[in-house]
Amino acid sequence: MEDIYGNHLEEMEATLSVFVQRVKELRSEMSSESELDPIEHILARIKSDKSMRLKLRSRGLPETTEAALHQVHDAMGVRIVCGFLSDVYETRDRIATLPGYEVVEERDYIRHAKPNGYRSYHMILRTAEGYLIEVQLRTISMDTWAALEHHLQYKKQHVGNQRLIVQELKRCADELASTDVSMQTIRDMILNERD
Ligand code: GTP
Ligand code: MG
Repeated sequence: MEDIYGNHLEEMEATLSVFVQRVKELRSEMSSESELDPIEHILARIKSDKSMRLKLRSRGLPETTEAALHQVHDAMGVRIVCGFLSDVYETRDRIATLPGYEVVEERDYIRHAKPNGYRSYHMILRTAEGYLIEVQLRTISMDTWAALEHHLQYKKQHVGNQRLIVQELKRCADELASTDVSMQTIRDMILNERD
């Protein structure tokens, strides 16, 4: 069976690595302006053939290159993990003004957390060639929660006390969110004292 991305895979890899390079440039600019590195780490991936086919199937979409590239928006995904809440929003602002990338959709799941407690800032960018890139910006705390919740997703389906588990996961997300606000306050206090 042919790869779901057909002959686009090489161009997708190049597109993704150019975008990551742009983000790394933003990161050095921001670091030299404020003497603080806004980014902890950056992850980039092309969704595997297998998970893309699963996603298309589950959405009732055809298993075609066209659907994989345009009907679904996360064939290319970049996750940017920041230290502080303000870093997330400042990085978002810089990405939004990057030449060559049009912001086609944004979702602020930080100000408007999902009912399960999930938090992140999502952007969908379109390149000049028409490729879509899903960017997820989050703090270390949000990343911790999302990673652990994802691990548990597969395990928790078969247990009886679902409601309690969902409720406890939500409580952890909210506690982490409150810690993010406290850490931001501490950082602001230190920075204000300095200048
Ligand atoms: P998909 O969820 O990808 O099918 O697309 P969507 O259009 O519903 O976008 P949404 O913004 O809901 O989610 C996009 C991506 O964010 C997902 O693929 C996950 O990587 C991440 N995400 C969204 N919700 C959750 C969540 O509840 N838990 C975790 N761990 N990740 C989530
Ligand atoms: Mg979703």
